[in-house]
Amino acid sequence: MNNPYSKINRRNFLKSAMTTGLLLPVSSSLLARTSIAKRNPLAIPTLETGTRKANQVSFNLKINASKTAFFQGLNTPTLGINQSFLGPVLRAKHGDYVNINVSNQINQISTLHWHGMTLPANMDGGPHQEIKPGKTWNSRFQIRQGASTLWYHSHAMHQTGPQVYSGLAGMFILDDEASLNSDLPQNYGVDDIPCTIQDRRFNRDGSLAYNTSMPDHMMGMQGSTMLVNGVVDPVLYAKSTLLRLRLHNGSNARTYHLAFDDNRPFYVIASDCGFLSQPFKTNQIRLAAAERVEILLDVSDRKQIMLKSLASTGNGGGMMPMMRMMNNSAELDILLIDARKAQASKHKIPSSLPVSAIHPDPRKAVTNRKFELEMGMMRGGPMGMMRGGANNGGGMFRINGKSMDKNRIDFQVKRNSTEIWHISNASPMAHPFHVHNVQFKVLDRNGKRPHPSETCLKDTVLVGPGETVRIVMSFPEYSDANIPYMYHCHILEHEDQGMMGQFVVV
Ligand code: C2O
Ligand code: CU
Ligand code: CU
Repeated sequence: MNNPYSKINRRNFLKSAMTTGLLLPVSSSLLARTSIAKRNPLAIPTLETGTRKANQVSFNLKINASKTAFFQGLNTPTLGINQSFLGPVLRAKHGDYVNINVSNQINQISTLHWHGMTLPANMDGGPHQEIKPGKTWNSRFQIRQGASTLWYHSHAMHQTGPQVYSGLAGMFILDDEASLNSDLPQNYGVDDIPCTIQDRRFNRDGSLAYNTSMPDHMMGMQGSTMLVNGVVDPVLYAKSTLLRLRLHNGSNARTYHLAFDDNRPFYVIASDCGFLSQPFKTNQIRLAAAERVEILLDVSDRKQIMLKSLASTGNGGGMMPMMRMMNNSAELDILLIDARKAQASKHKIPSSLPVSAIHPDPRKAVTNRKFELEMGMMRGGPMGMMRGGANNGGGMFRINGKSMDKNRIDFQVKRNSTEIWHISNASPMAHPFHVHNVQFKVLDRNGKRPHPSETCLKDTVLVGPGETVRIVMSFPEYSDANIPYMYHCHILEHEDQGMMGQFVVV
């Protein structure tokens, strides 16, 4: 693409942006790579371990509206949790009883959903646990799962996309005895680094651009300015030669193909809901929206390396040519790691990992269910998607032919039972499919074994065009005949436009 701004440096660019006041998108990837001196130190989110009495832990969260200076001299209106953009990293332990007060101080309905957590339906923070402006919601549950990197985010009906995009998300780390006693790096912010990766599009006045075009509605909202923990052009000054990075795709829609610019190998140790059975060595990993992966990275050569997303090649996470044209799948710089002053780590790449929970057994499955993900141009009319297509069964984004309806329970599941779900994608692009309350195991993709990084417990799985992915899960003991859990595409614009359904556990 020929872009007239590609030769201008960021400062001049922003200055001219401010003086002209034009509302054109800022695209940092079109600018030359920012030199290290102009980079911003990676922010390490406040670690919030709550107020603890034995195993009772209380957290107080406030959803608020504020402004954030992503660029010098520009204030961006944002939403945040206890801070101006995003929220603190919450941390609790297996067996804890957590008690979280969420007070909504913005002038719209919001929620906070504990993504990846096993919990009673009324504590889930989905669209049925609305928090009205000025009100406080109390969520209480016991942590019954193993060590993992979960997250939390707004799940307000039809507003999840814009609210998360504006900042309503954070990480939720769970520990257990085995992980705490392991030899893995776990000094928060020192050799154990949370990295929430998000793409954004900014207007020239600094405000966030959201859903401004047809492709935004169709592909989901993507931007070419990368943020890690809310920081533009971030640099992590590594303090240790062995880093554990908790990579969390907190983007609304984009799938990343993560690699380092010198193609060095790294070790995947965990995905969404727990550890792999052993470290998996690779030099590239795909991370779809809502997925997490923990990696160990050796920087003992004390170099500067760039974590980037490779231009997408279209396999699996990709899409058909017409869709690819509308999709911004360019190569992106994500995080510069400067290891020149790293101290020698006492940790090594382990040969085994802390044992995670027992995986669900497909031989115990009592029910098979089929889910077909569809994006239709015709049903609901060509403009159906622009209107949101909700509640009319014939909307643009559907599962099994239906758009999400808060008043329709799609099916019932028996507590403590094991089920196999077959998720098929009849649309021209990939969709990350997510289920609330359970951790599942990926059985196969079109009959083939899943990627090694997908062999631990997960809560989100990418389903490519023409693919059928089978997952197996054992539902926990919680039941509630009236309040449902959600399953949906985690491209938030698809979810908001109807690619979601709900089930109750009885
Ligand atoms: Cu990450 Cu239904 O949500
Ligand atoms: Cu969820
Ligand atoms: Cu989707």
